[in-house]
Amino acid sequence: ILRMADLDLAGKRVLIREDLNVPVKDGRITSEQRIQAALPTLRLALEKGAAVMVMSHLGRPKEGVWSAEDSLAPVAARLGELLGREVPLVKDWVDGVEVQPGQIVLLENCRMNVGEKADDVALAKKYAALCDVFVMDAFGTAHRAQASTHGVIRFAKQACGGPLLMAELDALAKALDAPARPLLAIVAGSKVSTKLALLSNLVTRVDQLIVGGGIANTFIAAMGHPVGKSLCEADLLETARAIMADARARGAEIPLPTDVVVAPAFAADAPATVKKVSEVGADDMILDIGPDTAAAYAALIGKAGSVIWNGPVGVFEFDAFGKGTEALARAIAASPAFSIAGGGDTLAAVEKYGVESGIGYISTGGGAFLEFCEGKELPAVAALKARAA
Ligand code: 3PG
Repeated sequence: ILRMADLDLAGKRVLIREDLNVPVKDGRITSEQRIQAALPTLRLALEKGAAVMVMSHLGRPKEGVWSAEDSLAPVAARLGELLGREVPLVKDWVDGVEVQPGQIVLLENCRMNVGEKADDVALAKKYAALCDVFVMDAFGTAHRAQASTHGVIRFAKQACGGPLLMAELDALAKALDAPARPLLAIVAGSKVSTKLALLSNLVTRVDQLIVGGGIANTFIAAMGHPVGKSLCEADLLETARAIMADARARGAEIPLPTDVVVAPAFAADAPATVKKVSEVGADDMILDIGPDTAAAYAALIGKAGSVIWNGPVGVFEFDAFGKGTEALARAIAASPAFSIAGGGDTLAAVEKYGVESGIGYISTGGGAFLEFCEGKELPAVAALKARAA
């Protein structure tokens, strides 16, 4: 892949696709991780003397209509504060943008353009016509084959990977393709069904796989233990057993919880009780791993060479059920292993426990991070490779 860092951008019109799809509530940005992650790329392009146009989507708006709710206006304002200069938001830009070298503008939500999601060729050609160089830097959207992520790469005069995209790909390759061993993955979340591809691929690569949340409950049930009222996919017990058998055949471990934290209801103030896995009652809901399990997992993390973390192992939004996730977060931060964390809830946990500085790489990807870890080729990355070939 051609890298932005290798190109002379002085005086060039540079269109940079970022993923500035940040959570916005009542017009306020609630997590600006993706904006922060894009800043070095934008600063570098400006330093190199480019005329910078930044393109991003926000949410999933209806195409062909502008709506205040889906406007990038709050992002333009925040970008301006962080860069220490005004960042104008350009509302109508598909047919041309006025921007001079050394200036930066943000283009309104590209998903408002008709044809964006369908990867329309005519639209992609219009994007391409805006610039001399197209920079794909939106790792978080690299799994979408859309006009602003994939189509434009095919038609731009020059197309390259931006520093953030390349850093993400390098970190993921370090953790997945040539990891320091043992390689340990934590995959947690409510459902086995939504993480089946991830579990199936990781089991072929890792030395240890820790499962958590509803996924762990399904594995616990598959081993014949009662799970009471816990979130569990009863129709996937056979699948869970097949994954465990596959792991065993490959010499990988899936250590299941030996104790759990249960409650009679899913609520912040529900009384939390630690129980052995074999003693979970009919009215219990498993909402976290227990202290013995957390200690055992933390010990494994301490001995790992690489750690991939996706998903909190308990209902960490409720403090009484966040101790397991906190223990693992702290173990990852304290471990000498190269660690990578990705996925929306995971980043919320990283932020809650303040362990950012202890994580080797924090991915800006949600779906893109998962698809990469599933072993899938990301369409935008494939398009960049094809251009470079
Ligand atoms: C994300 O938040 O995962 C990316 O910005 C992609 O958004 P999408 O799922 O709406 O394509």
